[in-house]
Amino acid sequence: MKSSFLFGLLTTVATFATANDDGIQPYSIYAYGINATFIPYGARVTSLYVHDKNNTPRDVVLGYDDPAQYVKDTATNHTYFGSVVGRYANRIRNGTFTIGDTEYHVPTNEHGGQNTLHGGSQGYDDRNWTLTAHNTSSITFSLMDPSGYQGFPGAVLTHVTYTVSSPPRLTTRIVSVSLDSYTPIMLSTHIYWNLGAFQSPTILNDTLHLPFADRIIDIDSILDPTGALSSVRLPWQSPSLPLNFTEPKQIHEGALYSQQCGDGCTGIDNAFILDRPPYSSTEDASAPALQWTSADSGITMTLKTNQQSLQLYSCGGQNGTIPVKASQGSGYVEKYGCLVIEPQQWIDGINHPEWGQNDRQVFGPDSPPQVLWASYDFTTN
Ligand SMILES: *[C@@H]1O[C@H](CO)[C@@H](O)[C@H](O)[C@H]1NC(C)=O
Ligand SMILES: *[C@@H]1O[C@H](CO)[C@@H](O)[C@H](O)[C@H]1NC(C)=O
Ligand SMILES: *[C@@H]1O[C@H](CO)[C@@H](O)[C@H](O)[C@H]1NC(C)=O
Ligand SMILES: *[C@@H]1O[C@H](CO)[C@@H](O)[C@H](O)[C@H]1NC(C)=O
Ligand SMILES: *[C@@H]1O[C@H](CO)[C@@H](O)[C@H](O)[C@H]1NC(C)=O
Ligand SMILES: *[C@@H]1O[C@H](CO)[C@@H](O)[C@H](O)[C@H]1NC(C)=O
Ligand SMILES: *[C@@H]1O[C@H](CO)[C@@H](O)[C@H](O)[C@H]1NC(C)=O
Ligand SMILES: *[C@@H]1O[C@H](CO)[C@@H](O)[C@H](O)[C@H]1NC(C)=O
Repeated sequence: MKSSFLFGLLTTVATFATANDDGIQPYSIYAYGINATFIPYGARVTSLYVHDKNNTPRDVVLGYDDPAQYVKDTATNHTYFGSVVGRYANRIRNGTFTIGDTEYHVPTNEHGGQNTLHGGSQGYDDRNWTLTAHNTSSITFSLMDPSGYQGFPGAVLTHVTYTVSSPPRLTTRIVSVSLDSYTPIMLSTHIYWNLGAFQSPTILNDTLHLPFADRIIDIDSILDPTGALSSVRLPWQSPSLPLNFTEPKQIHEGALYSQQCGDGCTGIDNAFILDRPPYSSTEDASAPALQWTSADSGITMTLKTNQQSLQLYSCGGQNGTIPVKASQGSGYVEKYGCLVIEPQQWIDGINHPEWGQNDRQVFGPDSPPQVLWASYDFTTN
């Protein structure tokens, strides 16, 4: 039994080390009360089951039933469902940045060429990662990103490890090493969540709490940071008030009123800065940065991370055309039907040296690795 399991595992690894042609093969991990499934294409999570308040298992992430659909999605709607995004998550203004004395230009794949989104025209979501380790509760995918690819300087080797444990917890860890040159590295996971597993079409009645999110990174009409940082508390910045989740409140109180998410948009699509309490380390991951409770399932997610920011997107761009998975019923993903949570560093920080974030975003062969750590605990009331 044991030796045949090992044989199967080694065969699989050997296959992936030599070919990139099975990016949509699903792999699962489990622990008591939680299981998750992944594919190498984008090193992405395709399902994650936890129990609701009635002890019914619920699949709380968005995706497709047929893994081949993820490849088609990239060519059409490009949702980035469940994937790792990189080499530089979120937007780079004008696709331009400077390291040392050299100005670099990377593909401007969004807003008619005005900025780069999630690593360029072929980001980490659109690569077939190599399966490098897999057992019952943990899986690791690795990606060698060659020097010059998508215009980024230097080769970068990344490992993403997803682990599940009991009581129900998902842990993500992304470790990236720059092999030869100084280069921007900012990765994230782009998981779309619906903690009620679509018992209601939207998440608007759910309760969200961002205890450290005193500030947001200001953005312009195409969601590129302006350089300014705004308090979510200051009364004279009234447009910011809907984004004040420093005490728990229902998502509709923010999402239906905030218009700080680009031209013509209402909803949440913002980088919330995690201002940890005085005297704790800036990377302290011991206290929750986000807590979210579903009105329908009673499931609470508690997120901890070592990152400096959380990009939250309340799915204002969904419009009822993408079907939910069979595990989630028979409807479609409606506007505000989900929340994307991306633990990451300060967006476009490479173009804002005044923020003092360079050590967290630019890495070379003599710097420590980039390490992203996040855990998601699932409980019910
Ligand atoms: C990844 O694998 C899938 C499935 O085998 C394939 O359709 C796709 O073209 C591959 N993508 C890349 C970028 O290699
Ligand atoms: C995960 O759990 C759900 C609910 O119990 C089950 O239907 C599904 O088959 C499990 N997935 C795997 C891969 O074990
Ligand atoms: C992309 O969205 C359109 C609706 O806008 C939908 O008809 C189509 O099926 C989607 N494509 C994929 C691959 O999901
Ligand atoms: C619906 O949203 C998809 C992206 O998810 C987009 O491609 C499509 O154009 C939208 N359709 C309408 C009618 O707005
Ligand atoms: C914007 O990008 C273009 C094309 O890469 C480049 O020529 C130009 O210098 C950039 N502008 C700024 C202000 O960085
Ligand atoms: C699975 O792999 C992880 C990561 O290497 C390790 O921490 C864990 O102990 C392993 N679990 C089992 C059951 O072998
Ligand atoms: C929110 O809750 C109220 C009161 O229970 C209910 O009437 C309404 O339909 C819910 N809305 C959504 C979007 O679930
Ligand atoms: C932000 O929300 C908290 C809790 O509701 C409240 O105490 C605080 O006054 C709010 N800030 C503003 C400016 O409204």
